Amino acid sequence: MNSVFDEFVAKDFTKNGQTMFRNEQTPEKQNQRAKTRDVYVAEIDNQIVGMVEATFPDHINRIFIDKKYHGKNFGKKLMSKIENIYKKKGSIKIKVYASDFAVKFYQRIGYKKTRGLVKRKFGFVYQPMKKKL
Ligand SMILES: CC(C)(COP(=O)(O)OP(=O)(O)OC[C@H]1O[C@@H](n2cnc3c(N)ncnc32)[C@H](O)[C@@H]1OP(=O)(O)O)[C@@H](O)C(=O)NCCC(=O)NCCS
Repeated sequence: MNSVFDEFVAKDFTKNGQTMFRNEQTPEKQNQRAKTRDVYVAEIDNQIVGMVEATFPDHINRIFIDKKYHGKNFGKKLMSKIENIYKKKGSIKIKVYASDFAVKFYQRIGYKKTRGLVKRKFGFVYQPMKKKL
């Protein structure tokens, strides 16, 4: 996941922000996060090639697909998985703070920009988007 972050998303962060993000990706921190969030992975031959992490009722925290498997519908399938589960549990919308790189992907699967680009601490620039379920 760090290599996908480095290649496609890191440019949206300052150096400090990049370090903070990478520090969150240790197996221990991931396990900790998974206690309060929903995590699904895509696998090929028992190898993880993508993951999505979301928080009920309506927030996508992150989605990463291995570069080799971009454009093969893994992202769409992982998003559908979360959307279907959350809809069944009563959610009426899903929100995401999209990376610049992922905006077109989200638009393709039905998400719309809710406002302009937002710049947060540590230089993280993102595009707020939303989909009605
Ligand atoms: C964004 C990302 C998750 C998309 O995953 P993916 O598995 O490559 O996307 P899919 O193959 O499921 O694509 C679904 C649709 O979106 C389109 N799409 C995907 N990425 C696109 C892009 N960069 N530009 C234009 N369209 C794109 C696909 O062509 C497909 O369209 P179709 O339904 O007409 O065939 C993946 O590229 C990624 O991991 N990017 C780097 C990390 C990142 O930016 N994560 C988001 C953080 S918020």
